[in-house]
Amino acid sequence: MIQEATTDLSERRRTMSDDQGITIRNAAPRDYRRVLAVVDDWWGGRVMSHCLSRVFFEHFTTTSFVAESGDRLVAFLTGFLSQTFDREAYVHFVGVSPERRREGVASALYDRFCSVAKANGCTIVRSSTSPINRMSIAFHLAAGFRMEPGNGDFEGVPVRLDYPLPGEARVLFTRNLAARRLLVEDGLVRGLLAS
Ligand SMILES: CC(C)(COP(=O)(O)OP(=O)(O)OC[C@H]1O[C@@H](n2cnc3c(N)ncnc32)[C@H](O)[C@@H]1OP(=O)(O)O)[C@@H](O)C(=O)NCCC(=O)NCCS
Repeated sequence: MIQEATTDLSERRRTMSDDQGITIRNAAPRDYRRVLAVVDDWWGGRVMSHCLSRVFFEHFTTTSFVAESGDRLVAFLTGFLSQTFDREAYVHFVGVSPERRREGVASALYDRFCSVAKANGCTIVRSSTSPINRMSIAFHLAAGFRMEPGNGDFEGVPVRLDYPLPGEARVLFTRNLAARRLLVEDGLVRGLLAS
């Protein structure tokens, strides 16, 4: 049985949610159509909706989240715990409304996901993104992920070829939950964070 995480969000992220009236909760089946209605728009017109299955909103709700401000959808994250590798978890999609970006919302969603992963014994979180998605690459690097070496190169970025589908390529990310991360604010190292 998947364990719910105890609340161990960093103080910074808890403050973010409180200050900005954003709440994060587990995804539910009723959220699927709301998310589907915005996902292509949030990805700048890229058609992503066909990649986002209802399965996450029914069978992976312990590791999938929505962020709301009142009844307004602000962000979502879908992910799962690997059944093949019992110390690994995988973030499938994360998206934040364009008008609420750079407020720490995606970071807060990742914190929630990583807390659940840790509570279930995971030490590695994986994710992937398209090599053209530079904001996603910047976000993942800021969130303490590193890029996997891959077997191809896209404009200097290492990619795994034919992943997740034949003819496609993705940057693969890994974050070690056992490692501690630097807290960097305004370009200065302010301290160490539990991962
Ligand atoms: C990528 C995305 C999820 C980031 O969400 P967010 O809530 O804005 O991210 P955060 O505010 O938590 O950002 C944390 C840090 O990541 C980095 N970062 C995030 N977006 C960035 C951008 N566009 N350019 C450069 N760095 C960025 C910054 O270091 C940021 O810290 P700072 O704001 O203090 O400088 C959001 O831009 C998005 O939804 N994009 C479209 C969907 C997508 O590409 N999803 C990811 C692939 S599944």
